[in-house]
Amino acid sequence: MDDHSSNTAGANPEEPDAGGEFGQGGDETLTATELRLRAVASAARFFGVDLDINDYKARPGEPYPSPAALVDWLRGQGLIAKAVKLTWRNLFTFRETTPVVVLLKDGTAGLVVGADARSDVVWIKSPTSRDSEPPVAVDRLRLEQAWAGEAVLVRRTVGLDDSQAPFTLGWIVKQVTTEKRFIGQIAWASIVLAALGIVPAFIVMGTIDRVLEFNSINTFWMLATILAVMMFFEMVLGWARRELILVLSTKLDAKLNLHLFSRLLSLPLDFFERNQAGETISRLSQISRVREFLTGKLLGTVLDGSVLLVFIPFLFYMESLLATITMAVAGLMTVILIVFLRPIGILVAQFVRAEHKKAAVITETVHGIRTVKTLALEPQQKQVWDERVAEATGWRLAAGRLSNWPQTLNDPLQIFMSRGVVVLGAFLALQGNSGIDRGALIAFMILSGRVAGPVAGFARLIEDFQEVRTSIGQIAKVLNNPPEVRNVTDGMRPRFEGRIAFEDLTFTYPLGSRPALQQMSFDIPPGTMLGLVGRSGSGKSTITRLLQGVNREYSGAVKIDGVEMREINLAHLRRSLGVVLQDNFLFRGTVKENIISGRPGLTLEDSVRAARLAGAEEFIERMPQGYDTWIEEGSANISGGQRQRLAIARALITNPRILILDEATSALDPESEALVNANLVRIGKGRTMIIVSHRLSSLVNCDLIMVLERGTLVDVAPHHVLLERCSIYRTLWNQQNRHMGNTPGAQQVLGHGE
Ligand SMILES: Nc1ncnc2c1ncn2[C@@H]1O[C@H](COP(=O)(O)OP(=O)(O)OP(=O)(O)O)[C@@H](O)[C@H]1O
Ligand SMILES: [Mg+2]
Repeated sequence: MDDHSSNTAGANPEEPDAGGEFGQGGDETLTATELRLRAVASAARFFGVDLDINDYKARPGEPYPSPAALVDWLRGQGLIAKAVKLTWRNLFTFRETTPVVVLLKDGTAGLVVGADARSDVVWIKSPTSRDSEPPVAVDRLRLEQAWAGEAVLVRRTVGLDDSQAPFTLGWIVKQVTTEKRFIGQIAWASIVLAALGIVPAFIVMGTIDRVLEFNSINTFWMLATILAVMMFFEMVLGWARRELILVLSTKLDAKLNLHLFSRLLSLPLDFFERNQAGETISRLSQISRVREFLTGKLLGTVLDGSVLLVFIPFLFYMESLLATITMAVAGLMTVILIVFLRPIGILVAQFVRAEHKKAAVITETVHGIRTVKTLALEPQQKQVWDERVAEATGWRLAAGRLSNWPQTLNDPLQIFMSRGVVVLGAFLALQGNSGIDRGALIAFMILSGRVAGPVAGFARLIEDFQEVRTSIGQIAKVLNNPPEVRNVTDGMRPRFEGRIAFEDLTFTYPLGSRPALQQMSFDIPPGTMLGLVGRSGSGKSTITRLLQGVNREYSGAVKIDGVEMREINLAHLRRSLGVVLQDNFLFRGTVKENIISGRPGLTLEDSVRAARLAGAEEFIERMPQGYDTWIEEGSANISGGQRQRLAIARALITNPRILILDEATSALDPESEALVNANLVRIGKGRTMIIVSHRLSSLVNCDLIMVLERGTLVDVAPHHVLLERCSIYRTLWNQQNRHMGNTPGAQQVLGHGE
């Protein structure tokens, strides 16, 4: 798996080559795919991002990467990329702001690094050329022969990239407002609808005043026609508005979901260890509520509110005194709602909190159902559930009761606005204070009734907003934790040999009272098979966690091949490590898929090889469908020993230089354990292996065994040396091998460590 393909050929970029364009033709060893990836990678290098072209996962049916595939890949690596169609002229403008990768017709690619408008040439660098080599000047004719306009633009965000932006109301609103085109269209449809809404009032007015009073049949027909045409328009516009809102909300939903998941995945392991899964899930599920509010109630009310812009001036035009009174009543309604806002908000927040606690009980019970059943804990769980339900119900009732009040107080006001104005208007007319006639009065009533709705809607919106703000707060509690790394593209990506060194390392867990590891120093050469032993809590797993970069707030240094852990790119580090824990999770899918777990470019042969090395081949072949056997989530249909061996195969598939087994065989029956142990020496060939085990007998073959005690390093030596000079080790050994007599008895095994 060597990616350092030779790139010395094709050194002369000036050489016009019929087949390969712009200098890359000389290098026959590179495929079109590699050339395209390299061109994109050199564009990324402009932004200090080092891409590994081996990370690219070819799409089925594509002889070489399509623009869309390249863009996906770049985005996956934290860059901003866009596939575009460009013309020759465009190259001169884009060049200023962002590198342009031109994708040529023959599947290869080049990178536009400069353009000279005066002599009408662009400067193109071949993906195979070295940094020191000059780019090639290409004129329009030559480029257009090889290029149909396909290009990929690469850019890196300034400051926070969107996936790292904190989750706040402002951020969400921004997501909505970026859809300017939609919002504009929806607003237009709404305003026209509102304007059309005025017409019925005038038709009624006209009917009463003209048709009934003067018996004008002509006016009647005219009004009827207007009404019919208007109904049709209203129907079409209503449809368009609903359609636009639907598209907008679906888009927003997808955006929010994508953002949510990528933020979630970027959170450090710590976070998930500190927080209950149930609560996290229930918090995140609030996202649908937020989306519903934004595109449902909020948008709806704002749009209905645009009705007011059209209606209110009309009301004042028709009868200003009556209009003023109507507005005052609307104001009163708003005041009542605002008064109740805070108390209701407090109760709603309590209710939401209680709901989370309730949800957490369900998740916990479902996750731990085995324990619940075997320990007959059903009554206890039920009791906890009952309490949670009671609490949530109580808060819900209280919040509901309180919000009943503003509604009750506002009802008469709303009725006044929709029907009462007519009485008031009639009274004013009788008093001679108003010149309004019969028809206008009815029209006024119709319009003011339509004003009442949005006013009440606005007030109710504030109430719902309170709830949504709580929801956003809940989601933010999860998503706004500091992510694991600022940027996936940060850090070095060295090729590991497997030398591991700790230098005066002290580490305390964030919530720990005393250091889990203290002033630890050691240096293990590549290829070592290292055993870790020590009592429970002595820090064995902590060492493996530090090596995986799970915890990074230590003092001293952890070095792999001499490079400080914190300087290594985290994704690269994890991909170069194989880790098997005591309890491993298998995903829904076939045996083969589980072993490969979506890594690019691996085939059945690779998984067979890994399975053989892990001692899993034997049982996989006995399964009804072999490598295509379906494994259920949580792997109910295979045994613990089989699952463990599959996990080892999964860790081995990438042929990692460093393999960590933390109690990987502890849960196995002696037979399966013997099987895995027998393979350990074979597995360990050519890599550094760190094996944590309570059973010392499985470590006797290790090159070195490290003895830990309360976070300090007591001794490192091969088995037989430790037996002689380390009392802690001797005690542990004797405890486990009492049946063999107390003599340091494994002389036979000693010869095995190489
Ligand atoms: N996530 C954590 N937060 C706080 N303290 C922790 C955490 N994980 C481990 N510790 C503490 O760090 C110390 C070392 O734990 P570690 O898991 O490394 O022990 P271990 O040697 O692997 O034990 P075991 O053999 O039981 O697996 C213990 O005292 C433990 O309580
Ligand atoms: Mg442990």
